[in-house]
Amino acid sequence: MIDSSAEENRVVVRSLRRSFGEGANVVHILNGLALTAQTGELVALYGPSGSGKTTLLNLIGALDRPNEGSITVCGQDILKMSDRARTQFRRRQIGFVFQNYTLLPTYSAAENIDLVLRLWGIGYFERRRRIRSALEAVGLSAWASHVPNELSGGQRQRVAIARALALRAPLVLADEPTSGLDTRTARRVMSLFRGVAQAQGTTFLIVSHDPMITDYVDSAYDLQDGRLVRRAANDQDSPAEQSLQLQLEVVHD
Ligand SMILES: Nc1ncnc2c1ncn2[C@@H]1O[C@H](COP(=O)(O)OP(=O)(O)OP(=O)(O)O)[C@@H](O)[C@H]1O
Ligand SMILES: [Mg+2]
Repeated sequence: MIDSSAEENRVVVRSLRRSFGEGANVVHILNGLALTAQTGELVALYGPSGSGKTTLLNLIGALDRPNEGSITVCGQDILKMSDRARTQFRRRQIGFVFQNYTLLPTYSAAENIDLVLRLWGIGYFERRRRIRSALEAVGLSAWASHVPNELSGGQRQRVAIARALALRAPLVLADEPTSGLDTRTARRVMSLFRGVAQAQGTTFLIVSHDPMITDYVDSAYDLQDGRLVRRAANDQDSPAEQSLQLQLEVVHD
């Protein structure tokens, strides 16, 4: 039983600022952003293209540093760690599903997963067991020995998902993890995330444009003007999506 408040709040982000460029060309992408995600919580992050969703995940995943603010993951202030400690922390504590999948082209699906498990120092038989069950969970058992070029876009995306889950890290950062999937497969992936969150207490931050995701998450936010605005539980569609739906309904009438 996990009972310390640091563990309950798996991700705590405060007053986060991230700008790019200099002088007259500076653009403020994240502007005093705050976010708290608890152990086992599934969080959806919505926002228009270019609003800073990937930027936010990169900061929480310790791949980038903010201009200002604090980021605590699993009770640890990731901005105060040495580079070496941060790299170790990232490898063990965070499963990434990157927006562009980042699979190594000459490695098979199984080998791509194996690599992250080896970096963590997991033994051979345990790695094999985890690879098998992760590929099975995403419906790719038959594709373990295929390289990314021999897989469809959606299959590659599912390998990236399997890789993030095989690590069994306490935090998974998933950047549009269902963008290349049909609705049925996307729902299967979201059910899988829910099951993993329940069974292992994994926290998921899921960036998406897909309204379906809200059926599976505990909370949903919109990234607007560099900050997160929480959606009410019974109002999961943003005004922009509602207006789009309205337009579509009109078109279909
Ligand atoms: N390293 C960088 N240098 C300069 N600008 C950057 C950098 N990284 C991101 N940006 C800018 O920050 C903004 C937000 O980018 P980001 O990738 O976070 O958007 P996003 O919300 O993930 O969009 P999408 O839905 O299209 O993936 C963009 O305008 C982008 O050009
Ligand atoms: Mg992005």
